[in-house]
Amino acid sequence: MSKIRKKMGPLLLLIICQCAINSIKTHSASNPNIILLMADDLGIGDLGCYGNKTLRTPNIDRLAEEGVTLTQHIAAAPLCTPSRAAFLTGRYPIRSGMAAFSRVGVFLFSASSGGLPSEEITFSKLLKQKGYATALIGKWHLGMNCESSNDFCHHPLSHGFDYFYGLTVTNFRDCKPGQGSVFLKGVQKALIIPIQIAGITLVSLAIARYIGLLNVPFQAFCYCLLIITISLVVLILFFYHFRHLNCFLMRNHQIIQQPLSYENLTQRLTKEAMQFIGRNTDAPFLLVLSYLHVHTALYASENFRGKSKHGLYGDAVEEMDWSVGQVLDVLVKHNLSDKTLVYFTSDQGAHVEEISSAGEVHGGYNGIYKGESVWKVFFFTPNFSPEDSNGCYDSHVCFCHGGFITQHDPPLLFDLSRDPEEKVPLTPETESRFYEILRVVHQAVDNHTRSLQAVPNQLSWDNLLWKPWLQLCCSSLFQSCYCDYDSGGSPLEVHSG
Ligand SMILES: *[C@@H]1O[C@H](CO)[C@@H](O)[C@H](O)[C@H]1NC(C)=O
Ligand SMILES: *[C@@H]1O[C@H](CO)[C@@H](O)[C@H](O)[C@H]1NC(C)=O
Ligand SMILES: *[C@@H]1O[C@H](CO)[C@@H](O)[C@H](O)[C@H]1NC(C)=O
Ligand SMILES: *[C@@H]1O[C@H](CO)[C@@H](O)[C@H](O)[C@H]1NC(C)=O
Repeated sequence: MSKIRKKMGPLLLLIICQCAINSIKTHSASNPNIILLMADDLGIGDLGCYGNKTLRTPNIDRLAEEGVTLTQHIAAAPLCTPSRAAFLTGRYPIRSGMAAFSRVGVFLFSASSGGLPSEEITFSKLLKQKGYATALIGKWHLGMNCESSNDFCHHPLSHGFDYFYGLTVTNFRDCKPGQGSVFLKGVQKALIIPIQIAGITLVSLAIARYIGLLNVPFQAFCYCLLIITISLVVLILFFYHFRHLNCFLMRNHQIIQQPLSYENLTQRLTKEAMQFIGRNTDAPFLLVLSYLHVHTALYASENFRGKSKHGLYGDAVEEMDWSVGQVLDVLVKHNLSDKTLVYFTSDQGAHVEEISSAGEVHGGYNGIYKGESVWKVFFFTPNFSPEDSNGCYDSHVCFCHGGFITQHDPPLLFDLSRDPEEKVPLTPETESRFYEILRVVHQAVDNHTRSLQAVPNQLSWDNLLWKPWLQLCCSSLFQSCYCDYDSGGSPLEVHSG
C-alpha cells in the first residue's frame, strides 16, 4: 500500500493489556504506569495476532491475548513526523504546523530548525505534572533545535520527558554503510539543472568577456565562481558525511555515539527501557519505547539474523517482538503487571515500496481489512508508478500534493467490509446510502476545515533545510564528529525465540 493509502486506511494496530484496565478498578486507580511501544512502519499483516502464520511474534501475540486487539486504529498521517506529532499531542498534525504542504513531509537532518512547537501539550508533559517519571527511548523525529545548536527547543526533554536515550531524527538507509541512499538519487535529480545553468552561465560570461562583447569585471566573475564552488563543496561534504552528521545516539542532551552503531542496537534500547522500569518501581512512570524496527536500514543482531522466514525484514520484526517480551517480563519480575497499561502500535502501516537494491523486500505487509462496515473516502489518490501497481515505486514514496495526485469529485467511496482491497468504488446504484454518507463526510470535513487556525509551518523549506550552525558534533569536523561512549558496556543476555 502506498503512503497515502496507508493514511486513509483504518488498519493500524493497537493492543491494550487487559491487566491495566483491571487495575484501574482495584488498586492504584489514579496512577497506573503507562508503557507505549511504537514500531516504525510495521504492517498489520506482519503479526501473528492479526493472522500472520510465518512470522513469529509470540510476545506481541501474548499481549493481544491477555488484552484487547483493536482493528480500527487510524494513524493521523502516513509519515513518521506528523503521525508521531499527533500521537503525542492528540491533535491533527496540521494544528501544530507538523503537516507538510510540499514534497518533504518529515525531518531529514538533525540540524534543521523545525519541530514540535514547545507550547504543544504532550501527554508526557501532563503526566510529568502529575508526578510521573517519564522517559522516551528510541526514535523521536520531532526536531531538536530552533536557533542555536544548544537551545533544544524541540528536544524530548523540552516536551515532558525526564530521560531520553535514542535518535533525534530517524533510521535511514544512509545511516548504515552498504544499505544504499535515500538522498543521493533525489539530490542528484534536484541539482543537475542548477549546476548546468550555473556552468552554462559562467562559460557564456567568460566567452562574452573574452571576445569583448561584455565588460564583466574580472572580480565579479571570480566571486561568482567562488560562491558556486563553495556551495558545491559544502553540499558534497555534507552528503559525504551524512551518516556522521545525522545518525547519532543521544542520552539526554549529550551525544553518546556518532555515528550510531547498529551492533546490538535493539538490545541497548531494551536494556535502557528495562533499567528505567527498574529505577521506577515505586513511582508511577511513563515509558515510550519507540523502536527503530522495522524502518530501513534493516538490521538485526546475531541471534536473530537469518532466523526468520522473511529475510532481514522478518528478522527485524522478530527481534522487536523479543524486546517486547523482555519488557513484559521485567514488569512481571517487579510485580508491576497489574498496575501497568501496555499499548503496542505502529506509527503507520508498512512501507511497501521498500525494496533493497538487491531486490529483497524490505517493507512489510498491510494485510487486508476484515471486519464490520467501514466507509473509506478518497478525495484524492496518488498517481501510482508504475500506473497499475499499488504504490509509487519510482519515487519510493507517494507525494501527496500538486501534480502527484488526482482529485476526485465526487470522492471515491468504498466499504472495506465488502471490498477490503478497495477495488471497485461504490456508486449511487451500488450503495443506496451513497449521497447520505457523502453528505455526512463533507460536513465533517467542513467542520474540521473551519476549526483550523493558521500556525507556523514547521515543515517549510526554511525549517527543513540543513543549517550548519545547528549542527551537533561530539568531537570536531576534522575527526568527522566521531565519538563512541556507548559500546563496550555489558550486553544484555539474549535468547532468541
Ligand atoms: C552483542 O551481543 C552479543 C550477545 O549478547 C555479544 O556476544 C556481542 O559481544 C555484543 N556485541 C557488542 C559489540 O557489544
Ligand atoms: C504484587 O502486587 C500486588 C498488588 O499489585 C500485591 O497484592 C502483592 O502482594 C504483590 N506481590 C509481591 C510478591 O510483592
Ligand atoms: C506475513 O508477513 C510477511 C512479511 O511481511 C508477509 O510477506 C506475509 O505475506 C505475511 N503472511 C500472512 C499470512 O499474512
Ligand atoms: C458539524 O458541526 C455541526 C455544528 O456544530 C454539528 O451539528 C454536526 O454534527 C457536525 N457534523 C459532523 C459530521 O461532525
